[in-house]
Amino acid sequence: MCGIVGYIGKNQAQPILISCLARLEYRGYDSSGIAVAGDRIKVFKDSIRVNELAKVLPEIEATAGIGHTRWATHGEPSRINAHPHCDCTGDIAVVHNGVINNFQQLREQLIAEGHQLVSETDTEVLPHLIEKHYQGNLETAVEAALLEVKGSYAIVVLKKDEGKLVVARKDSPLIIGVGDRENFVASDVPAILDYTNRVIYLDDGDTAVITEDAIKVRHGGAEVTKQEQQVSWSVEDAQKGGYEHFMIKEIHEQPKVIRDTLGEYIALAEPIVDFKALSGEPLEDILFIACGTSYHAALVGKYLIEELVSIPARVELASEFNSYHLPLRGTGIVAITQSGETADTLNAMKRLKGAGKKVIVINNVVSSSASRLADQTINTMAGPEISVAATKSFTAQLMALYWLALSYSKVDISQLDNLVTALRQLPRKVQEILDNEAVIVECAKYLSKYENVFFIGRGLNFPVALEGALKLKEVAYIHAEGYSAGELKHGSFALLSADTPVIAIATPDRTYEAMLTSIKEVKARKSPVIALVEEDDVNIGELADMVITVPRIDAIFSPVVNSVALQLLAYYTAKHRGCPIDTPRNLAKSVTVE
Ligand code: AGP
Repeated sequence: MCGIVGYIGKNQAQPILISCLARLEYRGYDSSGIAVAGDRIKVFKDSIRVNELAKVLPEIEATAGIGHTRWATHGEPSRINAHPHCDCTGDIAVVHNGVINNFQQLREQLIAEGHQLVSETDTEVLPHLIEKHYQGNLETAVEAALLEVKGSYAIVVLKKDEGKLVVARKDSPLIIGVGDRENFVASDVPAILDYTNRVIYLDDGDTAVITEDAIKVRHGGAEVTKQEQQVSWSVEDAQKGGYEHFMIKEIHEQPKVIRDTLGEYIALAEPIVDFKALSGEPLEDILFIACGTSYHAALVGKYLIEELVSIPARVELASEFNSYHLPLRGTGIVAITQSGETADTLNAMKRLKGAGKKVIVINNVVSSSASRLADQTINTMAGPEISVAATKSFTAQLMALYWLALSYSKVDISQLDNLVTALRQLPRKVQEILDNEAVIVECAKYLSKYENVFFIGRGLNFPVALEGALKLKEVAYIHAEGYSAGELKHGSFALLSADTPVIAIATPDRTYEAMLTSIKEVKARKSPVIALVEEDDVNIGELADMVITVPRIDAIFSPVVNSVALQLLAYYTAKHRGCPIDTPRNLAKSVTVE
């Protein structure tokens, strides 16, 4: 959570910091602030969004500065708690993403030594520790300060008259953007794409000293050489491109995402994963670990593995994984994470790695922390996903899971051929849904009047019900529960009434008859029903109050088309309700705290 940026170079820092910060708002947006270095450090910050900060900033001549957009962990969103934070002299300013676990102890120690700390944040101890250790060299002071710190951090430090930025990372992402007589620092690549696509990825334990024309990376006190990389994401990828919100742009990108992700896998000469070569043991079962939307993708993955590969698969929430037994020999372990920075997922991966297990990650961000921790990465080709609500990355994860299951599939060759043919048709099928969204817009208008909604599905579409409910909660602020259709009668029927619509996912598969029964039971309790059915369905039209149709597709791929329809439903419902769709309250794109 939180986005941090830094700039030093030939241009004025202030407008660059603001434009980089605006691209990082998906990481947190309850406060923002910048500090620039002139004859003294000048700090401007408040509990306001970046565009509002830009309006109230005076013009300041300075060619070096740092910036922050906050997702509050320690202390409410307020001016005093917003970053940057300064030392007693006001000469050192720090922006931080992460959590300092021992901040209370450090704070008490610093106060006893005469430092005045004014905020409730954990971050504020950092500038004071750096001040304490400063003896004429900023990088040495930063390294000494960080030796006292327990926790996670990506930081950028600015000091009056030094002509440099000092940065450091441990368990929080940080990249350096390389320019021509100017250099950039950011939590994530989209922040700097307007200025450069040349990037240096920092590793845990790295510090770097950055000036206008030099970048010196250090590790363990010694200088290390880092390779510069060219990122393939373009500026357009990180812009709205004429759409009103990133969420709808990203929903519309899905035909391309499916094509790109599948294209990547189809072109591979090797199998997508060779579990046996990796662990030295024959594959007996699979363990998936993930959070949120990625967890829902994993639930679809479990179904695919059991159906197509005929081995057991289990799915664990990464945040719960510490309470569970470690897997045995022969278990293929697959973590799924869009950002590759989710703390819960990283912690679960570290626990597994610590026990000597091999871990594969399905990940959308090249060189993310998860990717560097994993023994093998399956990249998804969704491109940068800016809206907090995951949409295209979910579809790309499903593509990875289909390919994984198909590459180990025990079905006969002609069935396999049919499945691959159907898989290749998915971009066209998804496009059909996007081209015919009018009915979904009507359903959304209807749904937007309600405060409680159930999503029901069975089998492969039970995770789709969970994902549909998560999307609606997240962007439209409607209480929604995803339920297995068969489970609803075991208690939750008590909540059904004319005021509680039920979205029933009833595309044809082996659970179709049971879904028909569930819909009848729901109607008997007077709940309005919006049914998601395949085109030409003849049974459900007369039962349901409203019907959304999706194109015909082999049942095993129905989660893709059904999810896209439910993403549109959530988007347009949120739009009718006037919600801030890309930046829902209390949330942030990557959850880098436990
Ligand atoms: C869903 O829309 C969310 N943004 C959220 O549930 C997300 O999927 C979760 O935080 C996991 O993120 P990751 O895939 O980046 O690990």
